[in-house]
Amino acid sequence: MRLKIVENKKIAKDTFILKVENPALFEILPGQFFMIKINEFNYPLLRRPFSVAGFSNTIDIIYRIVGEGTAILSKKREGEFLDFLGPLGTGFKINSAKRLILVGGGVGVAPLLYLKDVIENIYKIVCEAYFGFNSRDEVFTDDGFISTMDGSLGFKGTAVDMVQDKLDEDSLIFACGPVPMMKKLALLSFEYGCSMQVSLESRMACGIGVCLGCVVETVDGDFKRVCVEGPVFDFEEIQWQEM
Ligand SMILES: Cc1cc2nc3c(=O)[nH]c(=O)nc-3n(C[C@H](O)[C@H](O)[C@H](O)COP(=O)(O)OP(=O)(O)OC[C@H]3O[C@@H](n4cnc5c(N)ncnc54)[C@H](O)[C@@H]3O)c2cc1C
Ligand code: FES
Repeated sequence: MRLKIVENKKIAKDTFILKVENPALFEILPGQFFMIKINEFNYPLLRRPFSVAGFSNTIDIIYRIVGEGTAILSKKREGEFLDFLGPLGTGFKINSAKRLILVGGGVGVAPLLYLKDVIENIYKIVCEAYFGFNSRDEVFTDDGFISTMDGSLGFKGTAVDMVQDKLDEDSLIFACGPVPMMKKLALLSFEYGCSMQVSLESRMACGIGVCLGCVVETVDGDFKRVCVEGPVFDFEEIQWQEM
């Protein structure tokens, strides 16, 4: 599906927001993603996966430049078209009987912004959000409690440091971020008896369940495809030692 770029602008260090016209053909659950073809020419060859950070009259993606594909994406201009495949994968499952807590690290905060919007504006539930970044220049939201590793903005430390003494068995955590952050949250969730859903960002080739390039090991020794059975999983399904 070719979608027209409405905006593609820098919002923090190496971080951009891409807005494309929303054809209103589908609903998108928070946590779902699109495989974006970065170029009309087949370079880079493979599409790149990006979660939805906002969904209104535009579909919004927040991305960080980490390599060639995202660097090329950052040069795209308003009025150009990008080919989107999706929405793909599973979304977060909201349980209104729980205390809803969002924990994000770096660009992993992106899908949680859309989730927060849905929780607050569709479910009309108040949730708590803890978002961690390395430093002030990487922060791209003021929604929620902010932490930075160097203490240049908000709490000094990680998002996990901020949230860890606030967890109890009523908590349902929605998490997305670097693997060490998720592992630490998994340990805390076992300790406090919390529920947690994690969105995993493994490397993907096809995005549609064919190549098996994105699999993660589960506790019962199976492998699940992050692009089809995920990217959102119950944390108790994942074999964290293998991550
Ligand atoms: C379901 C899903 C949702 C995602 N959502 C977002 C999002 O909303 N915003 C965003 O900025 N990124 C997101 N990502 C990650 C994004 O897809 C990669 O950053 C992107 O594909 C990198 O492309 P590239 O060509 O710039 O980098 P490449 O040249 O392919 O790689 C550059 C470097 O980044 C590393 N890298 C690439 N992809 C990943 C990855 N998935 N995990 C860890 N390291 C990686 C490589 O190992 C390499 O060191 C998501 C990934 C998945 C699977
Ligand atoms: S990326 Fe090909 S199976 Fe998931």
